[in-house]
Amino acid sequence: MATQKAEAPKGKLGVLVVGLGAVTSTFMTGVLMARKGLAKPVGSMTQYDKIRVGEGEDKKYLHYKDIVPLADLNDIVFGAWDVYPANAFESAVNAEVLKAKDILPVQKELEAIKPMKAAFDHNYAKRLDGDNVKDCKDRWDMTEQIREDIRNFKKETGVDRVVVLWAASTEVYVPVDEEVHGSLAALEAAMKADDKERIAPSMCYAYAALSEGCPFIMGAPNTTVDIPAMWELAEKTHMPIAGKDFKTGQTLVKSGFAPIIGTRCLGLSGWFSTNILGNRDGLVLDEPANFRTKEVSKLSTLESILVPEEQPDLYGHGNDEDTQYYHKVRINYYPPRNDNKEGWDNIDIFGWMGYPMQIKINFLCRDSILAAPLCLDLVLLSDLAMRAGRYGTQRFLSFFLKSPMHDYTKDEVPVNHLFQQYVMLKNAIREMGGYPADETID
Ligand SMILES: NC(=O)c1ccc[n+]([C@@H]2O[C@H](COP(=O)([O-])OP(=O)(O)OC[C@H]3O[C@@H](n4cnc5c(N)ncnc54)[C@H](O)[C@@H]3O)[C@@H](O)[C@H]2O)c1
Repeated sequence: MATQKAEAPKGKLGVLVVGLGAVTSTFMTGVLMARKGLAKPVGSMTQYDKIRVGEGEDKKYLHYKDIVPLADLNDIVFGAWDVYPANAFESAVNAEVLKAKDILPVQKELEAIKPMKAAFDHNYAKRLDGDNVKDCKDRWDMTEQIREDIRNFKKETGVDRVVVLWAASTEVYVPVDEEVHGSLAALEAAMKADDKERIAPSMCYAYAALSEGCPFIMGAPNTTVDIPAMWELAEKTHMPIAGKDFKTGQTLVKSGFAPIIGTRCLGLSGWFSTNILGNRDGLVLDEPANFRTKEVSKLSTLESILVPEEQPDLYGHGNDEDTQYYHKVRINYYPPRNDNKEGWDNIDIFGWMGYPMQIKINFLCRDSILAAPLCLDLVLLSDLAMRAGRYGTQRFLSFFLKSPMHDYTKDEVPVNHLFQQYVMLKNAIREMGGYPADETID
């Protein structure tokens, strides 16, 4: 399954995004501006990165598009769903991420992107009160309505393929429950029985997308496709899935910086991460049940890079019950900063003979500016994977994700180390371009 060369794309690529907020409007505006040559898609691997193919005298470094048949930016057609009726232009203005000069040249195109009614349940994001919402009999009906939206979008736009991306608010934490999430049959039965507690609206989007032959990407930390039932559906429909949670600011730094400590065999006694942000994402995450979903995702990064069981002297003695270093993550809603997040990391390390040292990182980032290129890369690479006949969890996309999906029922350990993830990404591109994978991940 994994080594097939990707087929060339035919026709247009539909990109249907769940949530038309700060990230989505920034992503769409950037793509439309880049298409006109008015902005550069900085940060996008698919547009800038070069990979080595071949060895020895045959070795060359090529852009992704010269190795694999990627969809062109000019062939993308956008659509979206949102709880609020604002079109993509209004949403970009409201988000206050971009300056007017970077939005106005594509105002018409953005205004044409009007959100379809959302499949929404107020209990999953209590701070949202928009009324652009579907009236659904039960969760199964919710799924059917989304499927119809996808079919109508295809018909109206004439696109050849569609990728569905979740860039909507983080839902409340839904723990994996074997009884309903353990198999496709159980999931379908729970949808039909309208099990509102255990079937999140995001699961209805994912089920609908996969059933309509669209890859599904989860950009928030929701459990949605990270359950055996959805893995089964992705296998059955031969669709790629990827998730969870865009790896943008603090976690990107963490997964890039932790390898310095691990590679040099330095010790770690504690890592405290905190940040302030004031956008709608921050508002939703101010609700403890929604923050819990994010916290689980953010905490997982460090544990698979600096593993206490493997190096008990270095990582086994913090003050987290004396079994490992102390790891804490905090997010604070602070409106004056809007989308401009500020993150602080305090890292307590120790060296030769146990002598303590500290590292401080202060990252003044822009949330949506970091997330937009990830949206583009995840969409283009999922479409590519589908054309290469890859389906199920796309581990090579872990590079872009904070909490990469993995088969936890078989104790599979996710790869969180940024540079190991990069090797997986490069090898997948090589394979889908008909070249052999040539770097071992270890
Ligand atoms: N920006 C980043 O750096 C970053 C990093 C990782 C993850 N994320 C995640 O990306 C998501 C989007 O972030 P944002 O800053 O654009 O947030 P945002 O609040 O600006 O936009 C989210 C939009 O989703 C809509 N929405 C909520 N539930 C919906 C549903 N069921 N159906 C349709 N629409 C729905 C909301 O009305 C809102 O307009 C969040 O979940 C966030 O946690 C962002």
